[in-house]
Amino acid sequence: MTNNQKHLIDRETIERILDSAKIEEVVGDFVTLKKRGVNLIGLCPFHNEKTPSFTVSPAKNYCKCFGCGKGGNPVHFIMEHEQLSYPDALRWLAKKYHIEIKERELTDEEKREESIRESMFVINQYALQHFTDTLHDTDEGKSIGLNYFRHRGLRDETIKKFGLGYSLEKRDSFATKAIKAGYKPELIAKTGVCYSTDDGRLVDRFWGRVIFPVHTISGKVVAFGGRILQNNPKAAKYVNSPESEIYHKSDHLYGLYFAKQAIIQKNSCILVEGYLDVISMYQAGIQNVVASSGTSLTQGQIRLIHRFTDNVTLLYDGDKAGIKASLRGIDMLLEEGMNINVVLLPDGEDPDSYAQSHSTEEVERYIEENKVDFIRFKTNLLLDEVGEDPIRRAGLIGDVVKSIAVVPNEILRSEYINRCSEMLKVGEHLLVKETAKLRMQRAEEQAKKEKHESLNKENEPENNNIDEFQQNIIETYDNPLHRKERAIIQFMLKNGGKQLQVPENKAANTPVFTESVISHLYYSFSEDGIEFSHPLYKRIFNEAIEHANETNFDPEKHFIAHPDLEISHLTAELCGERYMLSKFFSEQNNDERNELAVLFEQTTRLSIAYKLSLVDEMLKESMEKLKDPAILANPTAMQETMADFKFLKDTQQALNNVLKDYGFGNVSMSV
Ligand code: CTP
Ligand code: MN
Repeated sequence: MTNNQKHLIDRETIERILDSAKIEEVVGDFVTLKKRGVNLIGLCPFHNEKTPSFTVSPAKNYCKCFGCGKGGNPVHFIMEHEQLSYPDALRWLAKKYHIEIKERELTDEEKREESIRESMFVINQYALQHFTDTLHDTDEGKSIGLNYFRHRGLRDETIKKFGLGYSLEKRDSFATKAIKAGYKPELIAKTGVCYSTDDGRLVDRFWGRVIFPVHTISGKVVAFGGRILQNNPKAAKYVNSPESEIYHKSDHLYGLYFAKQAIIQKNSCILVEGYLDVISMYQAGIQNVVASSGTSLTQGQIRLIHRFTDNVTLLYDGDKAGIKASLRGIDMLLEEGMNINVVLLPDGEDPDSYAQSHSTEEVERYIEENKVDFIRFKTNLLLDEVGEDPIRRAGLIGDVVKSIAVVPNEILRSEYINRCSEMLKVGEHLLVKETAKLRMQRAEEQAKKEKHESLNKENEPENNNIDEFQQNIIETYDNPLHRKERAIIQFMLKNGGKQLQVPENKAANTPVFTESVISHLYYSFSEDGIEFSHPLYKRIFNEAIEHANETNFDPEKHFIAHPDLEISHLTAELCGERYMLSKFFSEQNNDERNELAVLFEQTTRLSIAYKLSLVDEMLKESMEKLKDPAILANPTAMQETMADFKFLKDTQQALNNVLKDYGFGNVSMSV
């Protein structure tokens, strides 16, 4: 299947994907996980954090961040992480697990519904193909583009690996081809590969340049960089894709897709500046290399690195010009709790040239022998600059202390202080005092900011800051009916697929028979015309009923793998908590009857408890009416209300009798 044909995946295949995708493996592709009890934990890929709160449960095949609440089953994780639609996340997993997908064509309607984002990725992929084809298969591409790369010392396998390409001198070669192939000009322009001129023509952005595709962490192309071939002071050396719906420059690191495995293996990441630095280092056998692409590091980029490792080595050109500019970004790295080393290359060399002229071992050895921790590096750099001027020296001390103060780890901080005191020839106690002062200030500012934020939250209309899922839970706990519905859903998730045994009922003239827990609940509610009041619980319950007759139906598995994130989340939540049901069943802990009988009793208790609280609600309404002067003054209305009230009382009695008849005693009302 090519990328621009869209199909639907059949049910069977979806199930095979869901069965194969292991949450720890899927998350493990992006997050370094450590064992903690039966679970695994790591740094959340969806928000900034220094201590891991992203929890992966292999048993439940589910993950969740206890900081930001994001997570879900493997499909949800990929959807969120790779910003994919549900079907594309399934395709992603199918590829990972080598599952062949049989798909049916989308209807025209479905095609129309295809999101713009997806189309943009498709166009980028098409552009990538175009640029690489142009490089390898056209005369101009070969003689100019390919020649250029070879001159820069790149081998053909490297050129292929990084998807390098060429865009012809002609101003609209891609634009024309893409439109001819059926891509919409608006969408092509949205990706930034082309743009519209004032007179409405679509033209190429990168004409006459060699092309560097920028990949997402999972290998999809989000942007391109185009390098000019001749030195021309009038033209920009690089032209890059503009920001778009799929490309936020500050959230990408060039080369990460190719480097991530090596970063995990070596537990270290080398950070360089440019496209060619990454590529040449990789070609030289050093693969844990990424580039910030010439800008100073952003929080998003740091987070990306931190997912894979705590250790960063900055590899800079010999001349120190560029370094000063990036110092600020580096304080952020420190703040993230990363260990940072800096390596300066010999004068006149950059990572690209050094890697081109040395062997893997030589490059590795150079890095090992020349790396300096960042604080020492910064101190030295500034010392060189200020010389012996006492006032500037004082300023320098303040500057260095600022970097030390953001380091979260106390031991590391005191080590830095120790070293700097030697280098700066000032007493350690002074540095300790200054650092403490700064940390205090920061803490106060932080507290103020948080207070401000929480005040703002209070002023916002309710719900705005709570996601729907949290809101559901809050509502549930406020509402006695919802609480019981929740308990029933929880019970159904655990036991719904099992069989229970309905005992003989002489009064109703029914013999002993067995049926599934879901069926039993369904009949028990539908005979009284009861439907759940909570919309989410109702949806889950109704969907479960559809599967009631399937043998081996496992509701927990079914709903945790559910496409609807809310349902999957709720399932994980309910299957992880025990206390609600234990309030119902505490007396039966040591039950030795067979499971079929126990399940019947439990199911019955739950459904009766639920019905009783429905009756309870209605009784309350009825009592209110009996106090209403308008009704008191109207004999007919009064009589009707009294009759209703009596009926409800009788129903209450009858429900309690059901339990007595089965010998179950009173139902617990504590939920
Ligand atoms: N860069 C850019 N636009 C520019 C100059 C630079 O986007 N006008 C980015 C590119 O990502 C580039 C990086 O900054 O890779 C580093 O710039 P530079 O060192 O000038 O380029 P190199 O990649 O080293 O390219 P070359 O070795 O071919 O000069
Ligand atoms: Mn360079």
